[in-house]
Formats: sequence, C-alpha cells, structure tokens
Amino acid sequence: MNNPRQLFLTTWISLAAAGALFPAPPAKPKNPLGEAAEVVAAGRALYNKTCTGCHGPDGSDGDRAPSLNAARRYFRLSEAAIFDAVKNGIPGSPMPSSPLPEMEVWKIVAFIRNIRATASDNHVSGDVENGMKVFMQEGGCRACHMIRGQGGTLGPDLSSVGAQLTLQKLRDALTTELPPSNGFRPVTVITAAGLTVQGVLRNEDAFSLQLLDRNGKLHLFDRQELRTIEYGKRSPMPRNIDKRLSERDFQDLIAMLSRQARSKMRMEQQGENEVGR
Ligand code: HEC
Ligand code: HEC
Repeated sequence: MNNPRQLFLTTWISLAAAGALFPAPPAKPKNPLGEAAEVVAAGRALYNKTCTGCHGPDGSDGDRAPSLNAARRYFRLSEAAIFDAVKNGIPGSPMPSSPLPEMEVWKIVAFIRNIRATASDNHVSGDVENGMKVFMQEGGCRACHMIRGQGGTLGPDLSSVGAQLTLQKLRDALTTELPPSNGFRPVTVITAAGLTVQGVLRNEDAFSLQLLDRNGKLHLFDRQELRTIEYGKRSPMPRNIDKRLSERDFQDLIAMLSRQARSKMRMEQQGENEVGR
C-alpha cells in the first residue's frame, strides 16, 4: 500500500464502486425495432385496431381504461415495464395479456412511449449555454423563475420543466395566452392605510389573503385591513417571448429548458414509483 500507483488504483476502484465515477446507467433494455417514425406509425395502427375497446383512440381516455398519453402520471416508464404490461397484462385488473407476436408488441411500445414523450425526450437542437444566458439576462426570466436554486419565486421553479411538459406545451407556455392557474393569479390590494401591494395570490379564505410580491416577499393580510382587492385575469407570465427574442435566442432558450429534467432522471435511474419490471 506504500506504492503510490497501488494507492491510486485502490482509490479509483472504491470511487468507481461508490458510483462516483460511473453512475449506474438507467437499466434500459432496448426496443429491438428502435423508435423511428415508421415503427411508431405501425404501432399506432396496431394500437388503434387492438386496444381501443377499452383505451381511447390514439392513447386518449377510454370508457374502460385510463388514457395512455401524457395526461396522467404514469407508473410504467421504462420500455421493459410497458412491454410487460402489454404482453402479460396487469394481474388483478381488466388489462388483458396480448396474443400479438413480440415484435408487434414492441411496435405498440414505441407508439406509447412516443405519445408520452416530454420535452426532455426530444433532442431539441440549439445552443444550451446561450439559452441559459438568455434566461438569466436578456430574457428576464430569472426575475420570476428559479432553475437549480437560482432566480425568483413569483413563477414556478423550472428545474424539471423539460420532464413535466411536452415540447408543444413548453412552446405554448412562452407564446400563447393562457388563463392563470391556481397560485399564480395576479392580485392588487390597497390597505386601509393606503398602501398598494401587487403580486400573485397564493392562498385566500373568508378572513385572510396571502400574496407573494415580485420581490419574493409573502404578505399575509387580514381582509378587514384591506380597502380594495382587485383580481387580475391575465397570468403575469409574458406570452410573447418568441416576439421579444431573436429566432435564434428563442430556439436556444427552448433547447435549454427542454433539458431541465431533474426529477425525470432521478425517476428513471431509481425506477421510482414504477410497478412491473
Ligand atoms: C379489456 C380492457 C382493456 C384492453 C382490451 C386493453 N387494456 Fe390496457 N389497461 C386496461 C386497464 C383497466 C388498465 C389499468 C390497469 C391498472 O393499472 O389498474 C390498463 C393499463 C394499461 C397500461 C399501463 C398504463 C400504466 O402506465 O400504468 C398499458 C401500457 C396498456 N394498458 C396498454 C394496452 C395496450 C397496448 C392494449 C392493446 C394491445 C391494451 N392496453 C388493451 C384495460 C384494457
Ligand atoms: C413577471 C414574472 C415572469 C417572468 C418575467 C417570466 N415568467 Fe414564466 N411564468 C410566470 C408565472 C407566474 C407562471 C405561471 C403561469 C400560470 O400558470 O398561470 C409562469 C409560467 C412559465 C412556464 C410554464 C411552467 C409550467 O410548469 O407550466 C414556463 C415554461 C415559463 N414560465 C418560462 C419563462 C421564461 C423562459 C421566461 C423568460 C423569457 C419567463 N417565463 C418569464 C412568471 C414569469
């Protein structure tokens, strides 16, 4: 052990064993057919012919089975677990095993993964580093959003946004007017003392109101101490980002956001919440 080379090797091996140098890759038995567009299209046709007695067409909600698209939180994330559910059925549920040959089942698996794909599953092209710069500087996003612990709190934390939204929903969030969701409704109050406070409504009940202002400060008001309360109809999220930025900066921003997928990486590595294999 006084041999420096041996010491190096031992340290190296124990580091590797601890997963510090080589974190275990997510266990992913590969679909032997791949996930190319023709495979997905063939799977879609098979699915619409075989499965819509219970599930809805194209993976939507059916009368007798849940939707298979991104509308719900899934339990089966890996190819293997989806394959297993389709091939062998789900014991104790109406989901039957399938008599289809294995290669046909793989086509359906490719289709189901395709309709579930979130932004992080797409390899969005663009300069991620520049996208982060746009986020932090000229885009003004960090005033309201946090990524990995940096930024404001008025809007949602975007550290996992790539794993939460489909690519289309991500684009829509930056470009189309949507009604404000719970927790982000703008509100302006004037207190009895004449002070105006603006922000988003975090919570309210018959007696009190919680408002988060743009500086990230939470205000708790007694309704009795307020002269007026005005609720806004538009979310504070600016929805014309594509017009405010150059085409290139916008693309880079989307590329960067689509790669913010913390929770998904963790889920796939640990198989968190996954049932089946
Ligand atoms: C007889 C009705 C029925 C038919 C036919 C059917 N399913 Fe299902 N399926 C269900 C039900 C019910 C569930 C929910 C089971 C549960 O988790 O309790 C389900 C669940 C699933 C799941 C698991 C979803 C998840 O992430 O947990 C997949 C994948 C699936 N079905 C795919 C298919 C495919 C592909 C076909 C056609 C080859 C098919 N199903 C045919 C009833 C059906
Ligand atoms: C004035 C504050 C503010 C600024 C500036 C802002 N946002 Fe937002 N953003 C919000 C709020 C609030 C929401 C939540 C909207 C809602 O659901 O009503 C939101 C929602 C979003 C969402 C959807 C998140 C989800 O999980 O649905 C994305 C993506 C997003 N913003 C990205 C950006 C980007 C990129 C920028 C910079 C170009 C930006 N925002 C600038 C306040 C802001």
